[in-house]
Amino acid sequence: MESLPLLGADPNARPFSEALEHAQRHVSLALGPAIGVAQDLPVVDAMHYAVEGGKCLRGFLVLESARLHGIDPEMARNAAAAIEAMHAYSLVHDDLPCMDDDDLRRGQLTVHKKWDDATAVLAGDALQTLEFELIALSDFAPSAVVELVRTLAVASGARGMVGGQAKDIQAETALSPWTLREIEDMQAGKTGALLVWSATAGARIAEAGTGPLEIYGDALGLAFQIWDDVLDIEGDAALVGKAVGKDADAGKATFVDLMGMDLAKTRARELIAEAKSALDVYGDDATCLCAAADFVIDRQK
Ligand code: IPE
Ligand code: IPE
Ligand code: MG
Ligand code: MG
Ligand code: MG
Repeated sequence: MESLPLLGADPNARPFSEALEHAQRHVSLALGPAIGVAQDLPVVDAMHYAVEGGKCLRGFLVLESARLHGIDPEMARNAAAAIEAMHAYSLVHDDLPCMDDDDLRRGQLTVHKKWDDATAVLAGDALQTLEFELIALSDFAPSAVVELVRTLAVASGARGMVGGQAKDIQAETALSPWTLREIEDMQAGKTGALLVWSATAGARIAEAGTGPLEIYGDALGLAFQIWDDVLDIEGDAALVGKAVGKDADAGKATFVDLMGMDLAKTRARELIAEAKSALDVYGDDATCLCAAADFVIDRQK
């Protein structure tokens, strides 16, 4: 496997922004060849397009939780690429006219706008199956591969991301506003589940306990979606790279809608403090994961 130079002698001392870039490079190296060459099929071009330009937070979490367990990035690369492919699929479908009906994603036309709805549905489908192939092709212990596949299937299905997305759509036509508990439940599914999987993947590859990383991922996931909702109101569309100001009009159930901006931000800060304190057991080794938590509520996109 190709080895990338470390971007900083001590990975703990590496700024988070460099660690994200490092993750993006590892993920691109795995995803490019895995998606392969277009054979006059727009769906293949659309798959390449859909995985470009994201922050790669989920891929970073996989590589960083792997490093915490002594696993090098070359080894964990396929798992990082797998979750970024899963995430890209969820976004391609989320943007469809039958879901959020968005024209812009990551500063570019959405897949259904650049191609068409059928290509977007198929590109999402193929990215979803690709990720299981990527994990199956990893050099992890066979028992770890099975566990990663099983947990990713749960996290992305009706008990995870898809379930959360279904609730998000349901909320648009609900007769009464959703409670805090209902909103948290929906967000834990649509956004939290894939982030928890990412944060715990390194422990799963090493077949180690996932407890503290699950607490970290749960809190990080909720804070991440609160901040996404904050950006929909306060964000600059040019920086965010997608339309803003749409959630309220669409009748989305969000923390900001229920609690107001100030309380939503306070809740996000509390969650980030919880996420970081769950990592105390790892000491200085978790510095970069703590920086990632701070980034979640200090980002402009
Ligand atoms: C956007 O996720 C979708 C949500 C879960 C709110 P990201 O903000 O991580 O999107 P990219 O991958 O960086 O574009
Ligand atoms: C999408 O949430 C979450 C998933 C794709 C699973 P949003 O609909 O809030 O994400 P954005 O704002 O379009 O990125
Ligand atoms: Mg949505
Ligand atoms: Mg959306
Ligand atoms: Mg949003």
